Amino acid sequence: MNGPKGDIKLEHNPDKYNEQVSIKFVTLVSIVAALGGVLFGFDTAVVSGAIGFMEHKFQLNQVEVGWAVSCLIIGCIIGAAMSGLLSDRFGRKKVLIAAAALFIIGSLGSAIPATFSGYIIARIIGGIGIGITSTLCPLYNAEIAPAKYRGRLVALNQLAIVTGIFLTYFINLGISSYGDDAWDISTAWRWMFAVGSIPGFLFLVLLLFVPESPRWLIKQGRPAEALPILLRIHGEALAKQEVLDIKESFKQETGSIRQLFKPGLRVALIVGVGLAVLQQVTGINAVMYYAPEIFKATGAGTNASLIQTILVGFINFLFTILALWLIDKVGRKVLLLIGTSSMALCLLVIGIAFQTGHAAGPWVLIFILLYVASFAISLGPVVWVIISEIFPNRIRGKATAIAAMALWAADYVVSQSFPPLLNSAGPAITFWIFGIMSLFTFFFTWRIVPETKGKSLEEIESLWASKQT
Ligand code: BGC
Repeated sequence: MNGPKGDIKLEHNPDKYNEQVSIKFVTLVSIVAALGGVLFGFDTAVVSGAIGFMEHKFQLNQVEVGWAVSCLIIGCIIGAAMSGLLSDRFGRKKVLIAAAALFIIGSLGSAIPATFSGYIIARIIGGIGIGITSTLCPLYNAEIAPAKYRGRLVALNQLAIVTGIFLTYFINLGISSYGDDAWDISTAWRWMFAVGSIPGFLFLVLLLFVPESPRWLIKQGRPAEALPILLRIHGEALAKQEVLDIKESFKQETGSIRQLFKPGLRVALIVGVGLAVLQQVTGINAVMYYAPEIFKATGAGTNASLIQTILVGFINFLFTILALWLIDKVGRKVLLLIGTSSMALCLLVIGIAFQTGHAAGPWVLIFILLYVASFAISLGPVVWVIISEIFPNRIRGKATAIAAMALWAADYVVSQSFPPLLNSAGPAITFWIFGIMSLFTFFFTWRIVPETKGKSLEEIESLWASKQT
């Protein structure tokens, strides 16, 4: 029944045939771009395994330990800030290639230094690469994807991030159990960082084979180069219409940052930057960076807390897959509303468990896992999707960069303030603060975040125009 007959039917239905070709092509290209997410995830997780050994090796005090963890984020802020200007000028593809190179230099550089400052410099260089890829990978995917599948394809980037985090926990475990304590302190942490250069190199090579973003090409006045790429994505009739729509959208925009502060687009800026900051101040990286410490505070031993950390990585991975499946079906907004209300509830319970002295049982673990699952179906993927699709074509690069920069800056503030807050205010208050922020995110989403499911980027753009009056 299937086989040749089915194939012949496809030949008679050129539209369907085109659609099948496009999805294969776009998915492949998106997977390559999403690989940048693996590097992001790798860098998020690698230091948690290395830091204990580096502390001994370089005789670090508590401030230096904090700096060893967070200096990467300083690089990320710089990278995100540069990504907009550079990618608007030189194109998404070339800047991504440069970011991959920076990441490789950062990974190898973090592995070989004889001094602590050598490590810091290398880590900041790698961070610049991550700041750039964190902004440009979702943006590139959004610019290349057909509207119908855009949510899923951009969210692939988040799947890559959580895959990177999850794999890195195992790699850390594997490397540290290879030798004795002395070897761990002298060498294991070096291998942990060096391993990152493998996905970095793969990313760099594969990037050479992906096309430039057609939207960027049209913006540069090179529609002839954009058309064949759009043809492969959409098929003939739609591709020509896309070129016209994209050209038309540029006529409506000046491309200057000032445009973002005018009524209408100002709302887009508030949504983008607001969601970026809220993704961080609801506490996810307190769990990602400090999970073993939190579990130790509930009385778990070192081994148990390590296993629980891996469980966190697994749940994050599993529920991100669920989000990928849901994001173009139920939409971004519904996922955000369900996820943030459930996060608020989980954080409330975790706080109560600490406050009433019930932290030693399984409750904290169960509700942290539920909290991570709720993040993974909502703020995790949806925020990166929304910030890469809500801004107009001409200023998308710069505007997405502003939102990503705000996200990394908020990450820095949370990761720096979490340990002292935990010490001074205690775990209950700390988790309740994150809970209140989650509740706020729920209302923020409900009131001002628009649904962008199924709309083309140009349709989303016209949505802001209607808010101008
Ligand atoms: C966030 C990261 C976080 C990761 C966890 C991403 O969407 O931007 O800060 O570490 O999700 O899964």
